[in-house]
Amino acid sequence: MNAIDLTKGKPVTVIGAGLVGAGWAIVFARAGVSVRMTDSSAQVLESAPKLVAQQLERLHSHGLLKESVATILARVSVEPDLKKALDGAIYAQESVLEKADVKRKLMLEIESFGYDDLIIGSSTSGIPASDFGLDLKISPRVLVVHPVNPPYLVPIIELVGSPQTSKETIDWADHFMQALGQSVIRVNEEIEGFVINRLQAVLLREAWTMVADGVCSCEDVDKAIRDGLGFRWSFIGPFETIDLNAPNGVADYAARFGPLFHRIAQSRDQKRPWDEPLIKEVETQRRQFVKQSELNARRDWRDEQLMKFAVHRAKSADK
Ligand SMILES: NC(=O)c1ccc[n+]([C@@H]2O[C@H](COP(=O)([O-])OP(=O)(O)OC[C@H]3O[C@@H](n4cnc5c(N)ncnc54)[C@H](O)[C@@H]3O)[C@@H](O)[C@H]2O)c1
Repeated sequence: MNAIDLTKGKPVTVIGAGLVGAGWAIVFARAGVSVRMTDSSAQVLESAPKLVAQQLERLHSHGLLKESVATILARVSVEPDLKKALDGAIYAQESVLEKADVKRKLMLEIESFGYDDLIIGSSTSGIPASDFGLDLKISPRVLVVHPVNPPYLVPIIELVGSPQTSKETIDWADHFMQALGQSVIRVNEEIEGFVINRLQAVLLREAWTMVADGVCSCEDVDKAIRDGLGFRWSFIGPFETIDLNAPNGVADYAARFGPLFHRIAQSRDQKRPWDEPLIKEVETQRRQFVKQSELNARRDWRDEQLMKFAVHRAKSADK
């Protein structure tokens, strides 16, 4: 079923028109769905369509849009009043500040409007739905729908319900996200950091530790991923990597290398914080490659690379 069938032709609402909210607007509008953006800041809301248009232009210049920028942009509107923005919407993508009390207050406000079929997905990077979405009439329809930025280029989405989220809500969100062209992970437990940030945490923990111990530089860690592991990881995951890296598959790999990985795991204190001297050391090393004043330009460069990569992925979409 396509995204418009799943919305029954109804609009969706993006609450919070910042970085992530604007990215979501592109994901919805690109798939043919009408989007209303709302934000508590009039200034943010005023500039949101311009930001969306700029990103759409960039996607268009890389051949990543199937329709014209004007056609897609015509599906995006802004509405400062939350209730009006939600009127008749089938789905709301909450993308406000990463604070549980702000999200809870918003849920109470949405509850007070009395919509009985609105599904609410939160973009939160790490706050479980249980911290803001429990014991309300809307609770069965509240879940975490966590994107990676920018969601119109990086397709992964994590779905995490609270114990009060209904299975129907999670199923609908799963189908909807897939129909939008996203790739979905269902996280069965409200574990801190969900799946993606937990994986990133393991890698960063080892990276910071090796730099702290003088094993290698920050740049060498980046090289190991950029010019090494990342090559494969851009199209197959770590399990498929090891399944293909021993003649007889993953069990063979485990027999050959399992003890090595176990020894490495045992050799580490897992609780070391990123302390001030270490942060300073990493900061000094990184600034040799990108000056503070050049960070924004480098972010633009990164997005440009992502777009080129998305073109490549779209062309070689044989899974
Ligand atoms: N930045 C990322 O890389 C990233 C990635 C994935 C998920 N997220 C999550 O997405 C959410 C938004 O992050 P962001 O980076 O876009 O932040 P942001 O600061 O760019 O945008 C948040 C917007 O929410 C608005 N806002 C605050 N309270 C509001 C309210 N009650 N009603 C309506 N609007 C309100 C603010 O005015 C602001 O424009 C957070 O929960 C964050 O954890 C961020």
